Amino acid sequence: MPTTNSKIADRGSQVLVGNYAPQPIALVRGEGCWLYDAEDNRFLDLMGGIATAVLGHANPKLRAALDEQASRLWHVSNLYTTEPQIGLAERLTANSFAEAIYFCNSGAEANEAALKLARRHHRDHGRDRFEIIAFEGAFHGRTLFTVSATGTPAYWKGFEPLVPGFHHAAWGDLDTVRELLSERTAAILVEPIQGEGGIRLPAPGFLKGLRDLADENGCLLIFDEVQVGIGRTGTLFAHEQEGVTPDVMTLAKALGGGIPIGAMCTTRELSKALVPGTHASTFGGNPLACAVAATVIDELLAGGVLDHAKAMGERLGAGLAAIAADAGPDRVLETRGRGLLRGLALAKPPAAIIDACRERGVLVIAAGENVLRLAPPLVISPGEIDHGLAVLRDVLLEVG
Ligand SMILES: Cc1ncc(COP(=O)(O)O)c(C=O)c1O
Repeated sequence: MPTTNSKIADRGSQVLVGNYAPQPIALVRGEGCWLYDAEDNRFLDLMGGIATAVLGHANPKLRAALDEQASRLWHVSNLYTTEPQIGLAERLTANSFAEAIYFCNSGAEANEAALKLARRHHRDHGRDRFEIIAFEGAFHGRTLFTVSATGTPAYWKGFEPLVPGFHHAAWGDLDTVRELLSERTAAILVEPIQGEGGIRLPAPGFLKGLRDLADENGCLLIFDEVQVGIGRTGTLFAHEQEGVTPDVMTLAKALGGGIPIGAMCTTRELSKALVPGTHASTFGGNPLACAVAATVIDELLAGGVLDHAKAMGERLGAGLAAIAADAGPDRVLETRGRGLLRGLALAKPPAAIIDACRERGVLVIAAGENVLRLAPPLVISPGEIDHGLAVLRDVLLEVG
């Protein structure tokens, strides 16, 4: 007999493009780190809306910010100035290297803006620099420009010809980057930790090495912090832990705590490349999104959330290491990650583990081909982490 969940899924399959393969539950509400489906089954959310719901679901402060803004002004476009957009930009510039912010609606759009800025900046200075060096295994989005930057050929298939001018260096390998750099290079684009590619951390000093290579060459260094930014690794931005500053940083996902928003953050000097008429987005800087995102930043900075995320990240990392030791190398190849972005590299693709965890009330997702990814809300409690780990451990020992 069809369940309420399956009836909703059937309706979806009649009317939605089939580009997603959703899991067989229809989620109807959330509270903190818990999600509830159409039959009121409850699930511990260890995937956080793909690293987005940093303050958990239905956070009272975010709801208040949204309600307050919703009663005043929803949308007027960038033909007019609105205070929430400026307030959010002030918070981002006050807490990073950036001096100027461009707002958009997603991670792909933030990267699109960064790549356009890089090309245009050089052209404005009379330089024919248009090539971008990105990395194998990188993920930067699904627009044609950003899918061309993405370093996994499976994402390109059927969409060729790609945007010209991209090179993909081996992940973590400064020598390949050095070989690819030339007087045509506009920018190096890199995730401080590869997220979708499998939670892959570079060796210490890699980002600093890229900074030095970019400076020697005269190209820009762009950090894609769409997945790792906004507290995910225990600091507001992941690159802070490496002591390296980019020329451009992109944000999305957690910036809005679940409301769609993206940002391209750069210096005042570089921002001069985008004069009126060069780039735009109707919804960019939307007052509702900016009011919520400003509250996300305030909560992270004032509410002790970053220290909590760091501590919970260590607890999760230690628990995963213990599971890996118990499961053995036949099941778990290695543990990966930092802060509350964690992965277990498995000997097999993780689909069966993901299904079994869901059936026991815990939501986890994949990254890359064989990595089980955990990216819970940063406000997760020690008890919730321990519960998730206990379920994952049982599942891995039984199914994995
Ligand atoms: C590092 C990184 N960049 C860009 C994107 C694309 O973001 P969006 O899906 O919001 O376009 C993602 C999404 O997973 C990402 O992880």
